[in-house]
Amino acid sequence: RNMEDYGLFLALLGSALLVGFVSVVFSLVWVFNYREGLGWDGGSAEFNWHPVLIVTGFVFIQGIAIIVYRLPWTWKCSKLLMKFIHAGLNTIAMILAIVSMVAVFDYHNARSIPNMYSLHSWIGLTAVIFYSLQLFLGFAIFLLPFAPVPLRAALMPIHVYSGLLIFVAVIASALMGITEKLLFALNSTVYSTSPPEAIFVNCLGLLIVIFGALILWMASRPHWKRPAEENAKVQRPKGGAPEGTEAESTMTDGSNADKSDVGFNSEAARKRNFKLDEAGQRSTM
Ligand code: HEM
Ligand code: HEM
Repeated sequence: RNMEDYGLFLALLGSALLVGFVSVVFSLVWVFNYREGLGWDGGSAEFNWHPVLIVTGFVFIQGIAIIVYRLPWTWKCSKLLMKFIHAGLNTIAMILAIVSMVAVFDYHNARSIPNMYSLHSWIGLTAVIFYSLQLFLGFAIFLLPFAPVPLRAALMPIHVYSGLLIFVAVIASALMGITEKLLFALNSTVYSTSPPEAIFVNCLGLLIVIFGALILWMASRPHWKRPAEENAKVQRPKGGAPEGTEAESTMTDGSNADKSDVGFNSEAARKRNFKLDEAGQRSTM
């Protein structure tokens, strides 16, 4: 049962990496094969950085950042190291998203095109603002050693929920952006004849949806969660709900004190976690 499950996780992870990578390739083929390529000249080539950096950073890298804690072979690594990887990948995604914003605003200003008129831009900019807030609060509360454990425990479910919500909003915004760009670039009469570019870029949109679906599935299975640290001092709430483990898993200090037998411990913890999650699920049915 467990081995089967591990195989399924690997299959989903492999699919997500493949679909995500192909999405990045599609965005590059789009701008180089059908559009004006990439440049920084106030023209279309500058706009083209917008979709390429969004698909690479805000969709692909953010998606991977969301599931790094769930890679089973990292469960023997310290929680602190995994926090650096999670925070680092999210920081890279943030930087690419900001450069992509600069590209599109700069292009609009150079061409005297109005700013912030579309639903796409409203949802998109809102996602960027909340993403930067999420990143800042993540650093301040879960990485720096100042926040007390009860505060970490209270904020973890919100962190997970807002992280997933932002990721979904980014995908929704990307789909709107793709549709807008096709309408602008092809104009609606050509678009409605399904030219190769439109079919190709519609497929990019499908790939992004599939990528998001895979990430959300992996990130929402309770039994694929990183096991709680063995010697964390936080009490599990009564009933052993899956959220209970997050209180413990937000610990930075002291939780990796006995690394010598952490391999054994994390295996035991994973099994315990799995049982508790199953019990938790049953009790809420
Ligand atoms: C414009 C954000 C993805 C196409 C904009 C603007 C923002 C934005 C804030 C307004 C710029 C201005 O008013 O000067 C985002 C975010 C995305 C995203 C956060 C992440 C999902 C995409 C994608 C495309 C795209 C994948 C596909 C080509 C466009 C187009 C415009 C634009 C055509 C100009 C028209 C408009 O302002 O709506 N984007 N975008 N966007 N974006 Fe995106
Ligand atoms: C977990 C999103 C930044 C610390 C998560 C999860 C998501 C997420 C969706 C749930 C993952 C899971 O259930 O396996 C984000 C986003 C961020 C961000 C979108 C940036 C905008 C940060 C930062 C830190 C951090 C900067 C600081 C180290 C954590 C911790 C967990 C977590 C400790 C719990 C992992 C576990 O359950 O073992 N994050 N996060 N996050 N995040 Fe973040």
